[in-house]
Amino acid sequence: MVTKLEDLKLNKLISEEELQTRIKELGCEIDKYYNGEEVTVICVLKGSVMFMVDLVKNFTMPMKMEFIRLSSYGSNMTSSGKVNAVDISLPDLNDKNVLIIEDIVDTGLTAKFLLDFIALNFRTKSTKFCSLLDKKCKRQVDVKPDYYGFDVDDVFLVGYGLDFDGYCRNIPYIGNAV
Ligand code: IMP
Ligand code: MG
Repeated sequence: MVTKLEDLKLNKLISEEELQTRIKELGCEIDKYYNGEEVTVICVLKGSVMFMVDLVKNFTMPMKMEFIRLSSYGSNMTSSGKVNAVDISLPDLNDKNVLIIEDIVDTGLTAKFLLDFIALNFRTKSTKFCSLLDKKCKRQVDVKPDYYGFDVDDVFLVGYGLDFDGYCRNIPYIGNAV
């Protein structure tokens, strides 16, 4: 298992071009769905930042951006199984169309935590969940993103927002550690 940044070797899985093509397609599909209605986008930091920025460039509806910080991996390569709400301050989302943006759904614990939090605290007009990647084989709880970009296997991924102990988020493609 890779434990140090110096030992990390990356195998390119999804190229920059593939990412941009799929994100544009996804962004246009989501834009069409909302049909000009206002949306509040919630970006789950830190991993989703690259994806959110590129996705929303395809939106034409009035939109606001909110940022929250959750963590479940720490410096490990597998989920701790516990979601830590580092910062979950949000404005009033009652009667709003809410679109949550995630980098990856793995066990599904983070997605479930957030969806439950929103349902408990607000009566939104709608709540949708969009993830760049879906690691379905690792699911522990029953959550399905309304929109997702790519299916991925059970490998540890970095790049395009995804990190290894805080590093590699700036890599413009997605690779797996070998
Ligand atoms: P979940 O709660 O297990 O679904 O995990 C969600 C969070 O774990 C994601 O938002 C990521 O931040 C992180 N994560 C899951 N898989 C990976 C991976 O392969 N590489 C880096 N981070 C990951
Ligand atoms: Mg994340």
